[in-house]
Amino acid sequence: MAALLLGAVLLVLQPSLAPSHPVVPGAEPSQQEVLRKAGPPQEALRGAAAANGSAQQLPQTIIIGVRKGGTRALLEMLSLHPDVAAAENEVHFFDWEEHYSRGLGWYLGQMPFSAPHQLTVEKTPAYFTSPKVPERVHRMDPAIRLLLILRDPSERVLSDYTQVLYNHMQKHKPYPSIEEFLVRDGRLNVDYKALNRSLYHAHMQNWLRFFPLRRIHIVDGDRLIRDPFPEIQKVERFLRLAPQINASNFYFNKTKGFYCLRDSGRDRCLHESKGRAHPQVDPKLLSKLHEYFHEPNKKFFELVGRTFDWH
Ligand code: A3P
Repeated sequence: MAALLLGAVLLVLQPSLAPSHPVVPGAEPSQQEVLRKAGPPQEALRGAAAANGSAQQLPQTIIIGVRKGGTRALLEMLSLHPDVAAAENEVHFFDWEEHYSRGLGWYLGQMPFSAPHQLTVEKTPAYFTSPKVPERVHRMDPAIRLLLILRDPSERVLSDYTQVLYNHMQKHKPYPSIEEFLVRDGRLNVDYKALNRSLYHAHMQNWLRFFPLRRIHIVDGDRLIRDPFPEIQKVERFLRLAPQINASNFYFNKTKGFYCLRDSGRDRCLHESKGRAHPQVDPKLLSKLHEYFHEPNKKFFELVGRTFDWH
């Protein structure tokens, strides 16, 4: 019976079917909202239950980005909560055609087993900057709660560069200096992809075509680095989770230079690939970068009705 119900719901939710509708205040609830409210069919959003009652379920929340914003730290910190079950790997369902064409049944299969009271969360940072993703997520669940972690856009560019630099170094491949990417003909090279990913207002606009702002919680990634607990408390509230994560779950590790996690007496820091030193950039070039983001940042602040302490 459960399998039949799951089949019926997945048919309704098939990505290739049913065009989605942008958010219109006061619009009719979507079919899935109706299903959610109806009660028992909500159970059908879960896969077949294992002997211990746990099952896979579609995520009720997704960390949509931004790449290098602190998405792994956010996921790990949120996972301290007993009512959260997190997918371990980045799923890339909504942004990779090969995965998306496999349908929601496949997506469900990527989720962790969880108890009925637990929230399932997945994170794929590329979602935020992928144009097709907002509509696809909306089609799956217009009532989903989205988490977006952002940091200073210039710092994010340096972090983005550093990540790709290390990927090349690991493969013993040469990689140009950051200046070679940032400067072209003596000017800032606005075609450098990493710059585009930091144009938060442009990407946010795409999301706001499908989701109201109240469904997207923005985590301040710079604050999460400096003092994670208050940021995580806000996330708990947004997800309507009981406050279970405590200040004592975090401690500053001087060697790493970042906060690490303490859970049931077990201490752990994020992987060494998180929290790398960034390249030194000529201060004049850095000012150009800050200047470049000045207007886009202003637009972003207006869009979300909130300011951030960015250059
Ligand atoms: P850097 O390595 O450039 O400093 P993502 O997980 O989205 O790839 O983001 C990686 C960034 O998370 C890191 O970028 C780091 O600054 C940030 N971060 C936030 N909190 C952290 C923590 N507690 N430990 C390590 N990195 C953290």
